[in-house]
Amino acid sequence: MTGAPVAILRSDELGEGELKKVVLPGHEPLVAARWQGKVFVLEETCTHGMAPLSEGAIENGILICPFHGGGFDLATGAAVEPPCRLPLKIYAADEVGGVISLHAE
Ligand code: FES
Repeated sequence: MTGAPVAILRSDELGEGELKKVVLPGHEPLVAARWQGKVFVLEETCTHGMAPLSEGAIENGILICPFHGGGFDLATGAAVEPPCRLPLKIYAADEVGGVISLHAE
């Protein structure tokens, strides 16, 4: 993705501790997460076994996969709980005026 920021969600669509799948035309699926008030956007598909991470959970800032319980650091995408070993791609996002937007890569 290149160019201007793209609005992906309204702020009220992503509550504290929630995960939400985001689909943009021509882009891999993404997952948006809110933890301690901050918004994170990462790849939606687990690097271990193709699980949809938006169906997982957040525990202490870690995105937990719904299939085998692996985990990724929300802020860095690093794999921090086995069986996950490969990191998730992370995306720059911000939240202004009640709108969450994704920034160009
Ligand atoms: S598919 Fe995510 S931990 Fe296995």
